[in-house]
Amino acid sequence: METKKVIEKRRSIRSFKDEDVSNEVIEDIINCGRLAPSAKNRQNWYFIVLRNTIKDKVADLMLECANNNDEAEERKKLKTPSSVKPTANVIKQAPILVLIFREKDDNWIVGDNLSIGACVENMCLRATDLEIGSLWIRDIVYVAEDVAKLVGHENMELNCAVSFGIANQNPKQRPRKELKDIVEWYK
Ligand SMILES: Cc1cc2nc3c(=O)[nH]c(=O)nc-3n(C[C@H](O)[C@H](O)[C@H](O)COP(=O)(O)O)c2cc1C
Repeated sequence: METKKVIEKRRSIRSFKDEDVSNEVIEDIINCGRLAPSAKNRQNWYFIVLRNTIKDKVADLMLECANNNDEAEERKKLKTPSSVKPTANVIKQAPILVLIFREKDDNWIVGDNLSIGACVENMCLRATDLEIGSLWIRDIVYVAEDVAKLVGHENMELNCAVSFGIANQNPKQRPRKELKDIVEWYK
């Protein structure tokens, strides 16, 4: 597919069919992430692919955290947004969850996070190209340490995750700001 068409067609998908996606397809998607540019070419990203029970355990950790935070005081402290529960339910529905970690390095927080953004967008665009639905997930950060422990990588920092699967919805393009409101041609 033409690059511009893929960019225009990509959507965040929050409803998935009960159908698996092959390891080959997921590897192709991660490979496109790996080809993204990165600050100083550090490539400070590490992927863990989850399915089934272990994936659902991640969603349960998020649900547990969101429920605990229904207690007003705790919620204020952690500032857990109301989207954590619905996002956890999307994770349960989608067959694949890819966790994206970065090696901890306080000198490179901004550079590495920008690089991971480029990497994840490459993955979501490749998924669209292959007609695989995706949801980029930040809501997992509230249980980042628990998830790192669960998969045996406490030494690294969980940056975000992406759910992949066959879309069971076809959302319209979500609103975008107009170019004229966000671009200034300096004279
Ligand atoms: C860094 C990042 C984190 C996101 N985290 C979540 C999330 O945790 N849960 C969720 O439902 N959507 C999440 N999204 C999806 C956004 O809500 C979505 O991209 C936005 O509403 C625009 O919709 P679109 O992707 O369909 O164009 C995230 C997107 C980005 C780029």
